[in-house]
Amino acid sequence: MEQVDDIVLQAREELASCENTQRLEEIRVHYLGRRGRITELLKTLGSIEPDQRREFGQAVNAAKKELSEQITVARARLEAQLLEQQLAEEQVDVTLPGRGGQRGGLHPVTLAMQRIIDLFGHLGFDVATGPEVEDDYYNFESLNFPAHHPARAMHDTFYFGDGRLLRTHTSPVQIREMQKRGAPIRIIAPGKVYRSDYDQTHTPMFHQVEGLLIGEKVSMADLKGILREFVNAYFESEMGMRFRPSYFPFTEPSAEVDIAWDRGDGSEPGWLEILGCGMVHPNVLKACDVDSERYIGYAFGMGVERLAMLRYGVTDLRQFFENDLQFLRQFR
Ligand code: PHE
Repeated sequence: MEQVDDIVLQAREELASCENTQRLEEIRVHYLGRRGRITELLKTLGSIEPDQRREFGQAVNAAKKELSEQITVARARLEAQLLEQQLAEEQVDVTLPGRGGQRGGLHPVTLAMQRIIDLFGHLGFDVATGPEVEDDYYNFESLNFPAHHPARAMHDTFYFGDGRLLRTHTSPVQIREMQKRGAPIRIIAPGKVYRSDYDQTHTPMFHQVEGLLIGEKVSMADLKGILREFVNAYFESEMGMRFRPSYFPFTEPSAEVDIAWDRGDGSEPGWLEILGCGMVHPNVLKACDVDSERYIGYAFGMGVERLAMLRYGVTDLRQFFENDLQFLRQFR
């Protein structure tokens, strides 16, 4: 009987100082497990003198009941403690000031492109697109480049070896759109073009915006008018502008447009080329089954990087492609 009291006293002490659930489980096994001290006592019941057996049995059972109740109480206490601790650790101070978001920005070439699209949108031009992987027919032949014509060599074309190529200009979209929609038509086609060329003023990929307008009474004067309108709106000032005779197989007559550019460093203003243009060649209309007796029109193709450089004061074309954050952040 004394032994029972000792065991209970010891167990109470251990429970009182128990600080985690793992230790609690050890205590439970130590006293109430299959080989626990209380369990062992119960097993000795048979060897007890019959006259003491009843009293002893009751004492052991009472001890067992008390311990298991205390273990339950201790477990509840420890679990509550654990929860408290967890809540304290995971607490968030919602009154702390935020770290602030980093605002991104559009690439200057994208900005220039959007500006061009927007301005021509106001002039009634729809946006059309075409594939960057083209074939000889769309990039050259339908645009009145005869086989072996030297103008093909001017394009420094990337070929895939199976007859396909990376388009060297956006002019193939003229053909695709006219074949799809016929005439009259008024579109611009912005997109990427590719030429095997790399130096301070050339990158192997760059952007163009193509323009095409076909109608029944269209003249070179209309072309000059719309380009003047566009250039002045794009630069938000009256620009000096000149049309210089040029050659493209798909336009006749053809011209290149230069704008007067004052570098602002005291030097003489110079002429800077920004686009090629001309009256669409009848052979191009024929390739698209457009009646070249009835319809006539103009086309132009402008370099977006050049226009972006001029508007944003960028002096080296290659800066557009280096992904230098210091450079790009200026356009946020
Ligand atoms: N496709 C020509 C080029 O890339 C530009 C151009 C477009 C010229 C339309 C005339 C008409 O150089």
